[in-house]
Amino acid sequence: MKKIAVLTGAGISAESGISTFRDSDGLWEQHNVMDVASIEGWYKNPKLVLDFYNERRKQLETVEPNAAHKILHELENHFNVCVITQNVDNLHERAGSTNIIHLHGELTKVRSIADEDTVYDIGYKAINIGDTDKSGVQLRPHIVWFGEAVPMLNAAADKVAQADIIAIIGTSLNVYPAAGLVNYKKNGIPVFLINPNDVNPFHIQNLTLIQEKATTGVEKMRNILIEKYL
Ligand code: APR
Repeated sequence: MKKIAVLTGAGISAESGISTFRDSDGLWEQHNVMDVASIEGWYKNPKLVLDFYNERRKQLETVEPNAAHKILHELENHFNVCVITQNVDNLHERAGSTNIIHLHGELTKVRSIADEDTVYDIGYKAINIGDTDKSGVQLRPHIVWFGEAVPMLNAAADKVAQADIIAIIGTSLNVYPAAGLVNYKKNGIPVFLINPNDVNPFHIQNLTLIQEKATTGVEKMRNILIEKYL
């Protein structure tokens, strides 16, 4: 089976009703990213940060995976698919994808501020100041904030380097190191880029640009993959 590495961003969850970050109605229009999604913001005002993620976690329970998430799961019948997502939602899991790398953490998980390796799954519950782990240390979202390392980067880079096909879906390719992952790919392999807006594909060779929303663009990509690359 050919290996496909799929890099997804907020755009793949847009049609499920989850705001992206940098579109006109995006999260970074409503919040100062450094106040709610950076390690400095956490030290300055941890309650503001916890409330920001509590709101997003609460919304996550009310939305569903869309056709794009589901088709990526179905592609596992024909290809060895690894989803490398910048998203912290659980929609790829809920659509059935079985091989997922979360570069920026997971909204439904928390950890103590003193131990990044012990992670607790809290589902859609809120966490507040004073909520601690067993040894009484404050809990924080299991999210990679700006200013923090991306622990899953090497694992993701390996998957891109081994891939026979790359798909890039719903990301502005604005944030590194995630955006730079495409540079680990083998020369000349086919790359699909699905985005209704124009993003800078780093002049990628052998690029199939599908300038559509994820739900229709991923279906088109699936048809091409099955026709040409099985
Ligand atoms: N289908 C596909 N793509 C879409 C759709 C859609 N329906 N709607 C919007 N998009 C595209 C936009 O054109 C944009 O290029 O999704 C992209 C969303 O870009 P961002 O909001 O920048 O989201 P993302 O690329 O995932 O951001 C990366 O930035 O703030 C950090 O940690 C955060 O993981 C996030 C990272």
